[in-house]
Amino acid sequence: MLTAYRTRYGAPDVLSVREVANPEPGPGDILVRVHAATVNRTDCGVLSGKPYVFRFFVGWPRPPVGATGTDFAGEVVAVGGSVREFRPGDRVMGFHDHGLGTHAELVCMRADRPIQRIPPTVGYAHAAASLEGAHYAINFITKVQLRPGDSVLVNGATGAIGSAAVALLAHRGMRVTAVAAGPHLDRVSRLGAARVIDFTKAPFVEQLQGERFPVVFDAVGKSTFGICRALLPRDGVYLSSELGPYCENPVRALLAPFLPGPKVRFPVPVDIRRSLRIIDELLRTGWCPMLDRHYDLHGIRDAFAYVASGQKIGNVVLALSPAGLPPGTGTSATCWATTPGAFATCERA
Ligand SMILES: NC(=O)c1ccc[n+]([C@@H]2O[C@H](COP(=O)([O-])OP(=O)(O)OC[C@H]3O[C@@H](n4cnc5c(N)ncnc54)[C@H](OP(=O)(O)O)[C@@H]3O)[C@@H](O)[C@H]2O)c1
Repeated sequence: MLTAYRTRYGAPDVLSVREVANPEPGPGDILVRVHAATVNRTDCGVLSGKPYVFRFFVGWPRPPVGATGTDFAGEVVAVGGSVREFRPGDRVMGFHDHGLGTHAELVCMRADRPIQRIPPTVGYAHAAASLEGAHYAINFITKVQLRPGDSVLVNGATGAIGSAAVALLAHRGMRVTAVAAGPHLDRVSRLGAARVIDFTKAPFVEQLQGERFPVVFDAVGKSTFGICRALLPRDGVYLSSELGPYCENPVRALLAPFLPGPKVRFPVPVDIRRSLRIIDELLRTGWCPMLDRHYDLHGIRDAFAYVASGQKIGNVVLALSPAGLPPGTGTSATCWATTPGAFATCERA
């Protein structure tokens, strides 16, 4: 089988594609033919091993697994003797933020990992794109008390996390104001945002002057609590996916019980199984994760370089077989740019 491969942490050029023997499932393992995975911001951390503290979780001093890849959507091709939960032919998807080695045509993993069946109407590309960003979005959003009708501001609504957050909040009946660049406002509206703000025209805090939001979620970490404070009521909450200048977000979160006024929350993402259940519910109600470009395995370095640029729109798909190509795209090539809005009608199967 073909796999992405590296022996050390570093930039995308440490990665190569090589032919290796097919993995053999042990008694408690499943063997999955990966049709699609994503290249995401978590993968960038697993590839670079930065920040350095991350290496204590993903492997010290070298990566323990040659292949990168934290998520997958594929088909079970063999199961170990003690596996009861899955059978060959099952369409499955899964995620693990410390790495699963899924940038490969086949992957073997313990059957008790966070793995779930793909809803029947969802294709492999969209299944893979439904995992990483949504897991983090769920971990942020579920840390605040929200009622249907509440107003939530989401900055960075075209990111993997931000786009999933908009969809999840809208699905739960919140009134979402989403901040994104002008060319993508239509796509963000289709996720369910009630209002969209173009941050390229003027800073969003200026455009929203005088308004208050019980929750401001900066899903791309480009603002600060100080900047957004003007938008928060006294009991408001500021969430950010980034540490902030001088790690102020986790520090402010720790000090929150002792400080008056709006609070910062900085949750540590946990419970991938719960995220998978919520993702399943969202997909079954018609959520169509936002897709950007897709690449084949030979384009993996380019895929990483693009994702690390911080400019992707939603999710970048790594198609490992023709079945992993997003709907409406042709045969395999190194890189295919998806026309913005091509998935307006959500052709997912
Ligand atoms: N805390 C955690 O557990 C955790 C986990 C994973 C990732 N992260 C971090 O969370 C952040 C977001 O991750 P992601 O995967 O969602 O990002 P991403 O998919 O790479 O998205 C970045 C998006 O943000 C948009 N953007 C850039 N500058 C912006 C600005 N000033 N205002 C509004 N939008 C802007 C970009 O659009 P344009 O190109 O059109 O500007 C792009 O679509 C990253 O910094 C990542 O490192 C945190």
